[in-house]
Amino acid sequence: MSESLSQFTSAPSSQAGSAPAGKAKPRVAIVGGGVIGLALAWRLADAGCPVDLFEAGETGEGASRAAAGMLAACAEAEPGEEGLLALNRASQTLWPAFAEELERASGEVVDLRTEGTITIALTADDLAKLRHLYAFQQGLGLPVQWLTAAEVRRREPYLAPRLAGGVLSPEDHQVDNRKVAAALKIAALKAGATIHQNTPVSRVETAGGRATGIVTGETRHAADVVVLAAGAWSRGVDITPATPLPVRPIKGQMLSLRMDPAAPILSHVLWAPGSYLVPRHDGRLIIGATTEEKGFDTDLTAGGQLALLTNAWRALPTLEELSIVEQWVGFRPGSRDDAPILGPSPEVNGLVYATGHHRNGILLLPVTTQVIADHILGGTIADVALPFGAERFGPPRAAAE
Ligand code: FAD
Ligand code: GLY
Repeated sequence: MSESLSQFTSAPSSQAGSAPAGKAKPRVAIVGGGVIGLALAWRLADAGCPVDLFEAGETGEGASRAAAGMLAACAEAEPGEEGLLALNRASQTLWPAFAEELERASGEVVDLRTEGTITIALTADDLAKLRHLYAFQQGLGLPVQWLTAAEVRRREPYLAPRLAGGVLSPEDHQVDNRKVAAALKIAALKAGATIHQNTPVSRVETAGGRATGIVTGETRHAADVVVLAAGAWSRGVDITPATPLPVRPIKGQMLSLRMDPAAPILSHVLWAPGSYLVPRHDGRLIIGATTEEKGFDTDLTAGGQLALLTNAWRALPTLEELSIVEQWVGFRPGSRDDAPILGPSPEVNGLVYATGHHRNGILLLPVTTQVIADHILGGTIADVALPFGAERFGPPRAAAE
């Protein structure tokens, strides 16, 4: 593990139940093959654990495929989510080393791009809102820089003529999340993990208050540690006697256009009023995203796509010449307070949560991997992750009854 991946201070976990002291490395069952489950499979197999990952469909096809890959701890900082900022920023600093290590382990590139993010205002109203956001970001000590309209245009010449100003977030990078998922799968397999695709897990088995394995169909798979990393579907796995997790799907519609990779019309990640735009090295221009409380509704709607395209076009009018490559829907795993759920179950020993990453699961990938792997291998929880345990949602069910 690279040096920068072990920089956090840690406390013993409330349930240091994952790796029985003095024994061989624990046998781990991971439920879910998105980036979170795959990265844990890689890291734990690499550390010598026997790892089985169970995925209901094909790996990397959930939110991890749908995402835009923004690592936007600063641009996406929102009032009321200050508690999450430290975790987001910690993960942001881990990304370059994580990407390098993943590329080395897998032999694949993941396209970490470091041009940064620009948030723009088009109207006087937008400008007032942007000044407010900028003051909030500055108050939090975030590395952001105010840009005049001319300064924005110098960086992005194809933006609309009526540009009013912008904010540069130079540390908000992006990565190709689909390439990350593919690379993680290769790295996990190379490290010795076994991946079971098209194998949905119905429940976690327990005995005497401890996880003993998982059940798929009629088959039981024994494990010392079970990691629940099933994203927006995490509530669909029966974890009785533990309390069901407050995780729900938050629908997002997206689309992508085809730029000429040799002459892209955008190089930074762009936050415009009502949409964001993410240029990829391969020429795709990703436009996102709606935020809808519609359960697992997979419909692409005219209204959703129209809003995204109209808002993107207002910011970058030349995109009207581009062809549409793909339109899709994904499900963010949203928890009750929109923050991830990380660490041991307070009710079942050996059951570990790595879910609820909402809008930031790609950003939070390195820190989640480190925190959960350290817990399973060493029985600690990094201080930065302590506020994100499942116990914050209230007393365990048994205690509340
Ligand atoms: P997923 O990738 O959804 O993986 C969960 C997996 O579990 C799935 O493959 C599923 O099939 C499997 N599964 C479910 N039930 C079972 C079961 N019973 N048994 C076995 N397997 C099961 N984050 C960012 O940081 N930056 C962004 O720019 C960004 N943009 C986004 C845009 C959109 C439109 C969406 C939807 C999300 C975005 N996100 C972004 C959020 C990010 O995609 C998620 O937080 C992250 O991918 C969650 O990863 P995961 O591995 O937990 O979930
Ligand atoms: N983080 C971008 C999104 O969730 O749409």
